[in-house]
Amino acid sequence: MSQFFLLMENIIELNKVTKKFGGITALNKASLHVKKGEVVGLIGDNGAGKSTLIKTLVGVYSPDEGDIIIRGKEVNSWNALKAREAGIETVFQDRALTPQQSIVKNIFMGKELRYPFGFIKEKKQINEANRLIREIGFTSKLINAESAVGNLSGGERQGVAIARAIYNNAELIVLDEPTNNLSLNETQKVFDFVLNVKKSNRSVLFIGHNIYHVYDISDRFVILDRGEVVHELNKENVSSPEELMKIMRQTIISH
Ligand SMILES: Nc1ncnc2c1ncn2[C@@H]1O[C@H](COP(=O)(O)OP(=O)(O)OP(=O)(O)O)[C@@H](O)[C@H]1O
Ligand SMILES: [Mg+2]
Repeated sequence: MSQFFLLMENIIELNKVTKKFGGITALNKASLHVKKGEVVGLIGDNGAGKSTLIKTLVGVYSPDEGDIIIRGKEVNSWNALKAREAGIETVFQDRALTPQQSIVKNIFMGKELRYPFGFIKEKKQINEANRLIREIGFTSKLINAESAVGNLSGGERQGVAIARAIYNNAELIVLDEPTNNLSLNETQKVFDFVLNVKKSNRSVLFIGHNIYHVYDISDRFVILDRGEVVHELNKENVSSPEELMKIMRQTIISH
């Protein structure tokens, strides 16, 4: 497979997906794709359908209409298990980590490495966890695989969740408002983690309310309004977060 083809490959594609809740159309023929190694920022006002789109993508909801295509192949009866098997992992802020446990326990929870008789390969897990957290960008000498998650900052906890997603063979990591409630410093840490995920040729889909954060981190922006994808732009065509904000406002007003 040529390098060019690898760069162009879509990990996932939602094609004209519609999702209704009773009388509410949360998604209306929305299409979205994520390529290998790219960071996509999903933006739009409150109630635009961002969370519904994400939940459909990760298999929490099945669409009423439309197709889901994984690496070029259409899938039927899409669900959360199939999404995980396809290498799609979601990182929800703070939830799903056990703070009183160590980083290594959190990364391997439920998927421990074991000897044939069932004992856990503790040393191997620690080595692997240390390798993972360094790979995604933990630099502090004070933190290692055996540190308790409860002592970590908000940004670092996101890092542990991302490390776990990578251990689970994630090809696409979906981040649900990862910088909400984080300080500037912590936000920067999460950005560094995301850039390292991208460097390893994995993809990230990022939902954010803060246009500055979305701008900094994304290669491409997708604007959602009232359940419809109304605009898509590459970063090189938008000169600043202010311009992105302006384009978003204008697109929504004229939609
Ligand atoms: N489970 C549900 N049952 C009924 N209506 C829902 C449900 N989930 C979402 N909706 C409706 O669908 C629309 C889109 O909601 P969604 O949560 O996807 O928006 P959002 O873009 O994530 O908004 P926010 O930025 O506020 O998180 C809204 O009108 C919402 O009220
Ligand atoms: Mg939402």
